[in-house]
Amino acid sequence: MDAVETAVFVETGTYHGWTTVLAAGLWPRVITIEQSEELLNRARVKFSDRHLTIECHHGNSGDLLPALVAELAHVPVCWYLDAHWFDRPGVIDAGHRFPLWDELAAIAQRPQPDTIVVDDVKVFQTANPIPEWLEVSPASIQAALGGEERVCWAEEDDDHFVIHRRAGRLIQLDTEPGSP
Ligand SMILES: C[S@@+](CC[C@H](N)C(=O)[O-])C[C@H]1O[C@@H](n2cnc3c(N)ncnc32)[C@H](O)[C@@H]1O
Repeated sequence: MDAVETAVFVETGTYHGWTTVLAAGLWPRVITIEQSEELLNRARVKFSDRHLTIECHHGNSGDLLPALVAELAHVPVCWYLDAHWFDRPGVIDAGHRFPLWDELAAIAQRPQPDTIVVDDVKVFQTANPIPEWLEVSPASIQAALGGEERVCWAEEDDDHFVIHRRAGRLIQLDTEPGSP
């Protein structure tokens, strides 16, 4: 993960907050979203014990990301997408909506040169632990972000798929057909 070119780190799926704590040492502003209130409250204690200022949001990341996308419209962000069910105590149950596609749809709208990290490459295109992963691949993630046009570069290790995006065009409100 590259802390140099992004101003804010946003994590979906806090769980025990260990990645959040690491990110706090690298980014000046860190935001984390968790749907399990119990897990989020425990993570808040961890952050407070370490005197870390982390912005904690409780809820479904797929629902909460559009507001963050708008709030962070003027800064490049590192999005660390890791919200999903897995078989551990306290994790929200597998019946909840898999949020990755809603998250990517919100991020796709941004003109900023963001970095997007999707965790858990090991379970991409498998039905384990939940069948929603069958649809997840580097190609489907890239497509959900609007295709290849803005991909600066993409890389994969055994745990993460990372896309670095070029800045996109801002909408030109004053441009009419035929105008110079
Ligand atoms: C794999 S863990 C996250 C691990 C954490 N990011 C880390 O690096 O240590 C996934 C977490 O996502 C949470 N989660 C699942 N679906 C969610 C959703 N739609 N919105 C927010 N959190 C969600 C689960 O409760 C669980 O705590």
